[in-house]
Amino acid sequence: MIEFHRVSVSYNGHIVGLDDVNLAIQQGEFLFVVGPTGSGKSTLLRLIIRDLKPTKGRVTWKGRDLATLHDRMVPGLRRQIGFVPQDIGLLPNKKVWENVAYAMRAVGHTRREVRERVPKSLERFGILHRADAFPSELSGGEQQRVAIARALINSPALLLADEPTGHLDPDTSVEIIEVLERVNTRGTTVMMATHDLTTVAHVKRRVVRLEAGRVASDTMGLNGDD
Ligand SMILES: Nc1ncnc2c1ncn2[C@@H]1O[C@H](COP(=O)(O)OP(=O)(O)O)[C@@H](O)[C@H]1O
Ligand SMILES: [Mg+2]
Repeated sequence: MIEFHRVSVSYNGHIVGLDDVNLAIQQGEFLFVVGPTGSGKSTLLRLIIRDLKPTKGRVTWKGRDLATLHDRMVPGLRRQIGFVPQDIGLLPNKKVWENVAYAMRAVGHTRREVRERVPKSLERFGILHRADAFPSELSGGEQQRVAIARALINSPALLLADEPTGHLDPDTSVEIIEVLERVNTRGTTVMMATHDLTTVAHVKRRVVRLEAGRVASDTMGLNGDD
């Protein structure tokens, strides 16, 4: 689905975002991208949604080089990818259901489709009872669920979640990972970036560990029992 071939990103000509990264992600996978702050996790995710282009090397999506993808094709790419940004990015003056509805309207769904699909989605992520609340009235875990519901409302093939457990307590973090695992079970490829190794420690999944922009390890489970 996605391939990184010798990808480097430098910011302002000298700051290392990524350094010679090779990576292949298959459709249907669930993988964690871990590493300390500044190791390149967000840079890696942003390349996939063509928010950035590599300084060197190539990122391909289903065989297409993303750097040569015409600007007018970028919205089409992004419709296939749900993105939960590091800052969650919910619209503060819109209610929970409006935040999710907005994402549907943006790609041209009718009001009727919105009325049908949004409540189902909120129900699926356990936040239907908060549909009329504003984001600021929700707990951190609830806000993440809304952001995930919104990212998935147009049924993308891939979900990217950047530090979705960043501000959550350990129990809520585990809940969010379970939510993402259920999403993956239903066929969506999931990539989650996190610096929090304790939440990843007991999950038997592929873990790509970044260090200063390089892939330091790529193993099944955090300690590479495989
Ligand atoms: N827009 C930017 N301008 C300059 N440097 C950046 C920018 N974004 C990220 N960086 C730098 O690139 C490196 C990798 O950052 P990032 O991908 O955000 O890492 P992470 O998500 O793992 O914290 C860091 O040194 C960071 O300071
Ligand atoms: Mg980051």
